[in-house]
Formats: sequence, structure tokens, C-alpha cells
Amino acid sequence: MDQHVSLTIFKRVTESAASIRSVLPESLQNPKVAIVCGSGLGGLADTIESEPKHEIPYSAIPNWPQSTVVGHAGKLVFGVIGPKKVPVMLLVGRAHFYEGHTMDLVTFATRVCKIIGVETMLVTNAAGGLNQDYSVGDIMCLNDHLNMPGMVGNNALIGPNIDEFGVRFPPLSDAYDLDLRRRAHRAWKKLGLDKTKRRMHEGVYAFLSGPTYETRAECRMLVRLGADVVGMSTVPEIVIARHAGMRVLAFSLVTNCAVMEPVARGDAPEIQAMSKAELDEYLSKGKAHHEEVLEAGREAAKDMQALVKQILTDLHED
Ligand code: 6GU
Repeated sequence: MDQHVSLTIFKRVTESAASIRSVLPESLQNPKVAIVCGSGLGGLADTIESEPKHEIPYSAIPNWPQSTVVGHAGKLVFGVIGPKKVPVMLLVGRAHFYEGHTMDLVTFATRVCKIIGVETMLVTNAAGGLNQDYSVGDIMCLNDHLNMPGMVGNNALIGPNIDEFGVRFPPLSDAYDLDLRRRAHRAWKKLGLDKTKRRMHEGVYAFLSGPTYETRAECRMLVRLGADVVGMSTVPEIVIARHAGMRVLAFSLVTNCAVMEPVARGDAPEIQAMSKAELDEYLSKGKAHHEEVLEAGREAAKDMQALVKQILTDLHED
């Protein structure tokens, strides 16, 4: 990539931001918070007040990447949230690297948020649980990540630095804002969610490109590397948000438990003794299904929505 390409990215982002602004009513023009809704978490869009509210389908925004995944309706929703009427910008649906988009497109929306004036990004996703202490339906507040594609040449910032956004070598040791994480845990308690079956953890998100789910060996590897959950999004957005100086808070909804045990062996006596039907039953336990991911999302979405609302309200009060 040359200088020309990086100038083009900035120009495209600015163009999109201008197009979005041009259709927004005055009262919705300056959200300080953007919320990225992951798989099955788009219900957040319904919790925002009906007035004032403005929706823009991604298809109506110039330069915006078009999503191809089922369950990811693509739109921006501008509105106010909660009793304090905090102005927000919701991104319902996102572009993934596994769709074949370049990292520039995967992170396009994040950069548009910056140009619109967003200061805090609240990012959600669906992820597979690796930590044995986590259950399906639990929520994990990210305190760090493993950027696996980034380590092998697919870091979202590869290419000429766009000085308008940030520096060449941004630190990520403080990527996940500690004050926001502290607020998230407080909000969780304040809502009484600590008295429910669902738990909120803090941990490490491993980003893999997908679209395949992990093999058992890959899951064991990720656990050894310190990952608590694994997913196919979020990290490029975090990298770009931090580069541009936005504060970030991110949550994973644990929608399934990644399979790593047992290490199934064709020569094991118990496997040898099984009928074909028993074998099929045994194998069905572990597989990750997109449907299961969406279902867990629907059930936990209410708590996640309440949590986000509470955090926003508390932020607005201080
Ligand atoms: Cl198990 N793996 C990945 N990579 N992404 C997921 C997932 C698993 N569950 C939900 N999203």
C-alpha cells in the first residue's frame, strides 16, 4: 500500500460520516458513545427511546461494507437511551474478516465513529467459552486480547500510518479501559445481576479469523496461551479505536463452550466399544452451531441490554 491508499481511506471515512450527518436531525448529531451489537445482540436497538430516533441502513451509506452473515441485519441507529436520554449511535451488524473484507473495511465503521465525534466505544460479540469456569450465557468483560491474525501479518493497522487518526506505534497495554471495566462490574451489582445464575467474568479474548470454528487442538492451544474465550470479531475494531484515542469497553456473550476434551482417539477401548449410534451421539455433544450461538444470544440479551443501559446512565451522571 502506498500513501495514496491511506489518503483514500481517510477520504472515504470522512465522506461516509458527512453523508450520515446530512440525514440526521440536529438532536442526534453528536453521540459520544457508540455501541457495536454482535451476533444476536441487535435487540439493544429496540431498547432505545422511540423519539428522537433515526435509522440508516448500511446499504444507504456510501463506502460502507455490506454484511453477508445471517442474523446480522445491517443498520445504524441513532437515538437516546435510558431515563437520562444519553445520545448514542448503535451499529447493528458488523463486517467480519472471514467474509473476505480487508482489515480497512472491517474497521471502517470504527473510523466513521471517530469522525462523528464518538469518544467511547462499547463493543459486544458472541464468543466460545474456553475457560472451564465459564458457562453458556455468562458474560465476559474483556481485559485483554490475543490478536492471532495480527501476529501473522493481519494487524488492522498494517499500511501507511494515517496521522489524522493516531501515531504509528500505538500501545495496547491499556487497551481495555480500567475505569469503564470498574463501572461495568458496579452496574452488574447495581442491577442485582450478581444474584442471578448468570455470571460476569473478566478475561482474555482470542481473535481468530474464522470462518471455521476451532479444532480441539486449537482450543487447547488457546487455553495454554491464556485465552478465556474465542471469537471472530472485535479485536480489529479495538485496535483501530485505540489508535484513534477512543476509550473502549467490550463484552463477550459466551454462547457455547468450545470443545477440547476428550481427545477422541479411534483406538481408545471405549470408542471401539460404541455402536455407530452411540458414536454419533458422543460426537454431537461438542460441535459449535450458528443456531446455538443465536439462541444463547436471545436469552442473555435482556441482561446485556440492561447492563449497557446502566453503564451509560452512570457514565452520563458523572
Ligand atoms: Cl466456539 N469460536 C469462534 N471462533 N467464534 C465463536 C464461537 C466459537 N462461538 C461463538 N463465536
